[in-house]
Amino acid sequence: MKDTFYITTPIYYVNDAPHIGHAYTTVAADILARYNRLKGKAVFFLTGTDEHGQKVQKAAEEKGRTPKEQSDIMVENFKNLWLKLGITNDAFIRTTDEEHKKVVKTILQTLHEKGEIEKRAYSGWYCLPDERFWTEKEIIDGKCPDCKRPVEEIAEENYFFLMSKYQERLIRHIEENPLYILPDTRRNEVLGFLKNNPLGDLCISRPKERLSWGIPLPFDNGFVTYVWFDALLNYYSATSYLAPHDSGSWWPPDHHLIGKDILTTHAIYWSTMLMALELPLPENIFAHGWWTIEGKKMSKSIGNVVDPNAVVEEFGADAFRYFLFREVPFGIDGDFSEQAVIKRSNTELANDLGNLLSRTLAMIEKYFEGRIPQPPAFDIKGEVDMTRLLQLKNIAENIGADFDVYMGKLWFGHAIDKVWAAIDDANKLIEDEAPWNLWKTGDTAKLAGVLYALAETLRIIAVYFSPFTPSAAEKIWKQLSLEGDLSKADLDAEIKWGRMRPGTKIHKGPAIFPRIEKKAK
Ligand code: MSP
Repeated sequence: MKDTFYITTPIYYVNDAPHIGHAYTTVAADILARYNRLKGKAVFFLTGTDEHGQKVQKAAEEKGRTPKEQSDIMVENFKNLWLKLGITNDAFIRTTDEEHKKVVKTILQTLHEKGEIEKRAYSGWYCLPDERFWTEKEIIDGKCPDCKRPVEEIAEENYFFLMSKYQERLIRHIEENPLYILPDTRRNEVLGFLKNNPLGDLCISRPKERLSWGIPLPFDNGFVTYVWFDALLNYYSATSYLAPHDSGSWWPPDHHLIGKDILTTHAIYWSTMLMALELPLPENIFAHGWWTIEGKKMSKSIGNVVDPNAVVEEFGADAFRYFLFREVPFGIDGDFSEQAVIKRSNTELANDLGNLLSRTLAMIEKYFEGRIPQPPAFDIKGEVDMTRLLQLKNIAENIGADFDVYMGKLWFGHAIDKVWAAIDDANKLIEDEAPWNLWKTGDTAKLAGVLYALAETLRIIAVYFSPFTPSAAEKIWKQLSLEGDLSKADLDAEIKWGRMRPGTKIHKGPAIFPRIEKKAK
């Protein structure tokens, strides 16, 4: 097994404030980064901002700022949000970093010298907001087939990356590597497109008179680099100046996490760029779905853009993170509403998990003076009937294998389900064994077994939930008086049953998920 793990998010445009879509991909990457750290891997988790191009230049002009001023201001919004959301990125790349620009120029020079870039006269239909050309055949009623906004005809000389020659090789690569593009529906879309349409070459320059905010082409000062060509290279440039240096070579990445709208740029542009550079392709590009807001597309004009800061403020980072990955399978579209967050948080986090912790600790306080009791042997031959307790022990011990497979496939919902089976069974155990009756009848040995099993299950749950709800998991850890920093724990060791030491004084604290009382709509 490889002992490094390199994961990326898209780098976000700094024309506007971060929204739920940005938070979604970044939390997904954070969950995987945290999980792989627990597995003992050296992790490089990269996120950052995409600062060149028309969009940013226009936003800056509207605000009376230079594009760099605009970027410097907006970058802070992203960085602050990542702090609030508990994001543990190892680096933050900005495409205006000098080191990044240098790598882009070197690569452009190399590709030019290798004959992979050519100057041509060109005319086409240009979509300004999407910053890309379309052919006559592709546009629909004078509009961009992607964003449906009007396109304008532009004729000029430009530089082209000779992407078309990689078409067959790319098809082969996708066919031979079923995990290259996920989910399968997206993979099939890309394959379908590649098999049924001739791939064009990619215009990778913009004349300076039309756009000045970009990296100048090293071989022609009259042009700047197309923003996507510059942006995609961040994944590679970062490995040379932002990655931890003690882990050898970081290339290729394990996952590029992206939204479904930017699949073509990654699956086709980026893959062929890497082929031309003779660099290994990433192991996987995963395109997730989009969030609608109360059934509607999220848009500024509707005025329903969800500010993740407000959601965190209102419900807490853990409840938000949990909701995003519990509500819909990663890969398909989902619908966001405050009511849905409240429902998940109150029923699952506050009732099922939060109460399990507080009831367990309250009973340990009441029946064992706040110390983890010494349980009877967890086997069926002993003096105490442990059959029911062994059921919970088995469920808790059996989370691991499937959980790991699901996390590897990015099936976060399935992974959470496995943990949920243990939470449900622990709650059911309380009803089945009725510890208060064991207390009344003086069955202290069995009572000790029950409470030990509950505390131990909670300890294991905290380990598995720590990538999803890191601060709540840390609170469970502390209330159980477990030592060390949970985020640096050793997964294999910690998921074994029986590590909780009898005699440990627990520290019951406030509810880890307070119930959210809010206006019913
Ligand atoms: N700068 C490019 C990416 C370059 S990567 C080399 C870009 N930036 S962006 O700021 O527009 O990023 C948007 C990201 O947010 C994309 O992954 C996109 O899929 C995602 N989302 C935008 N709206 C979204 C939803 N409503 N729901 C979920 N994700 C959404 O594209």
